[in-house]
Amino acid sequence: ANHRPLYGRRLLVTAGPTHEPIDPVRYIANRSSGKQGFAIAAAAAEAGAEVLLVAGPVPLPTPPGVVRIDVETAVEMAAEVEAALPADAAIMVAAVADWRAADTRAKKIKKDGSGHVPPLALAENPDILAGLARSAKRPPLLIGFAAETNDVIDHAQAKLARKGCDWIVANDVSADPMGGETNRVHIVSKDGVDSWDRLPKQAVARKLMEKIADELDKCSPA
Ligand code: C5P
Repeated sequence: ANHRPLYGRRLLVTAGPTHEPIDPVRYIANRSSGKQGFAIAAAAAEAGAEVLLVAGPVPLPTPPGVVRIDVETAVEMAAEVEAALPADAAIMVAAVADWRAADTRAKKIKKDGSGHVPPLALAENPDILAGLARSAKRPPLLIGFAAETNDVIDHAQAKLARKGCDWIVANDVSADPMGGETNRVHIVSKDGVDSWDRLPKQAVARKLMEKIADELDKCSPA
């Protein structure tokens, strides 16, 4: 077997949550650990790819052979993704915050003791995956992730169409909670659904690299 099936390919991976500041000491975040995205970046490098990992704030070590760019917010992640192009494939694993604080305060919001509760207005973040799908520099293979709690396949099919990507890797986060060590994924594409057994995140990543290598070889032999 070919042990470096992604040799000569350039892969872009996003991973982790984003943090959206409210004031200098507070932020909006989510439960993404970054483990699946980092495992994917690691597996891509092992498979011989040149890998650029745009990572939200997570305390994980950079996998060997991976070039990592740390970001905090969705807006920063969008800019680094744009700057990283072109790529043969992009795998958007990050759990990007849907909303950020509409205005970030320069000073800490103080509790004044009167019982006044400050309002928190939100603004919509850019959808990085959907933006990439429409971009002139769209990677030939564009992969999104979907963490769902119900109707996993139906939601993934809808997401595939809405986002304009080629595959959605969907998983049920009520069966495999965010931050855990395993995932049971369904790869949804225009060709149908490929459902895998529950596997450690590293095994999901390695299997996904084989599938990506096969797909890239079909379109343009390396
Ligand atoms: O429907 P949802 O936005 O949760 O879809 C998740 C997929 O979209 C993931 O691949 C995620 O990385 C990507 N995404 C993004 N930018 C956003 C929101 C989600 O790239 N603002």
